[in-house]
Amino acid sequence: MKTSVAPRGGASVPHWYMYPPKTSYSSEVHVDVVEKELAGLAGALVSAYVHIPFCNMKCNFCSLLTLPGGSDPTVSVYIDNLKREIVNFGARFQRAKPVVSVLYFGGGTPALLPERQLAEVLEQLQLAVDTTQLLSCSVEFSPDVVDEVTTGAWRRHGFNRASLGVQTFNDALLKTMGRRHTATHARAAIGNLANAGYEDINVDLIFGFPGQTAQVWGDDLRAVVASEATHCTFHPLSVRPKVALERKAISPTSAVASLEDRHGQAIGHFQEAGWTQTSAISFSRLSIPNPIESAEAAGQPTIGFGAGSRSYYPSVHTSTVPYATRTPFGAVLRRYYESVSAGRLPIASEVLLDAEERLRRILILQMHHGRIPKSMLSGLDSDIDDSLSTIMEGMLVEGYFVQRESDYLLTTAGSIKAAEMGLSLSSASVKRSLATVE
Ligand SMILES: C[S@@+](CC[C@H](N)C(=O)[O-])C[C@H]1O[C@@H](n2cnc3c(N)ncnc32)[C@H](O)[C@@H]1O
Ligand code: SF4
Repeated sequence: MKTSVAPRGGASVPHWYMYPPKTSYSSEVHVDVVEKELAGLAGALVSAYVHIPFCNMKCNFCSLLTLPGGSDPTVSVYIDNLKREIVNFGARFQRAKPVVSVLYFGGGTPALLPERQLAEVLEQLQLAVDTTQLLSCSVEFSPDVVDEVTTGAWRRHGFNRASLGVQTFNDALLKTMGRRHTATHARAAIGNLANAGYEDINVDLIFGFPGQTAQVWGDDLRAVVASEATHCTFHPLSVRPKVALERKAISPTSAVASLEDRHGQAIGHFQEAGWTQTSAISFSRLSIPNPIESAEAAGQPTIGFGAGSRSYYPSVHTSTVPYATRTPFGAVLRRYYESVSAGRLPIASEVLLDAEERLRRILILQMHHGRIPKSMLSGLDSDIDDSLSTIMEGMLVEGYFVQRESDYLLTTAGSIKAAEMGLSLSSASVKRSLATVE
């Protein structure tokens, strides 16, 4: 769901969970375009993302907009506004409602939410959209909030996929990151989620930390395979301005080489363990990709709810965050509450997608997920399609893809270069926006 920027000797190279990246959003909002897109969602299959921005800790690498968890009345006020936003959204659909096949609660640490408030949010969602065809319901945990109460609550409400932020199983590194848990807690949390009956358990790891040698990283990868986790996402460390972890702690010259080495090490490790690659930075024991990301790569719109969320409609992407300026989260929240109370869509910025951007988006997301159907690049006649075909041919020559009967498949070399390939496939305006930010 996020674009991260990895440390690459000064240059910013995004990982392509989404396209266009947030650097290309602007504060000029076309409510008429959004309303038209929303009308088109009646009866359509969609994903729903619900953002819960509360955490028990502030990790020193994390630039996400978060607030301390458990500090009522902030949580209650937030949840009241979230419910109102969902009601306002649902009021548009009198007959056919959008049909949600994928539900994802992200954050922050949404698992912190007390069961009563979770139940209230779900109740409003069930009224606003059609939830009778849900295939996958995910929630993000951190190990310090996993216990029988939290795991049981989300299971009781139908959540079948858990995503756990472990980051590393090395206690010294966990301490440096400002995490509250130890490796023992993380192992116990995975067991607890498995006992609670989550069918798919993703473990998030981060690679590229100072002091994370090949040995330490290898220990992390072995710990995942030895556990009951069924999916692993390994994020390259991104160090954004103003996070507590200082950029200078990462040597720019060694950063690229060491990131690529660790990335290759992870791919080799999971391949040897017989796991299936599900994206440039993830593997699954069950061959199941991240459901919301794979639905997006297949062209399914995502409706975002909550302050900090984004929505991806076919011809416009919207955000509750104004990206042009670095707005403190307090101001983002106030703006969100004002819009919701007034019954308006809480949009602070947006990016419009023309036919060319839509094509680039699908190509880039599919590339990130490892498979581009040849049909997407056949019978091309416009300049843009020709230039994309030329880029694809170059990637084949480099060995970043191999050809199969009907698809181009991402190789290990391609996975490691996926961020750069995404940049090559981006439009000139996206490249400009990335170059002018930070
Ligand atoms: C939204 S967080 C949710 C997980 C939960 N809050 C936790 O940290 O345990 C999703 C994941 O993004 C990754 N992440 C966050 N900040 C990152 C950064 N600066 N660089 C790389 N990965 C990052 C972490 O692996 C984290 O688990
Ligand atoms: S990494 Fe997770 S727990 Fe840590 S501050 Fe970010 S969202 Fe919160």
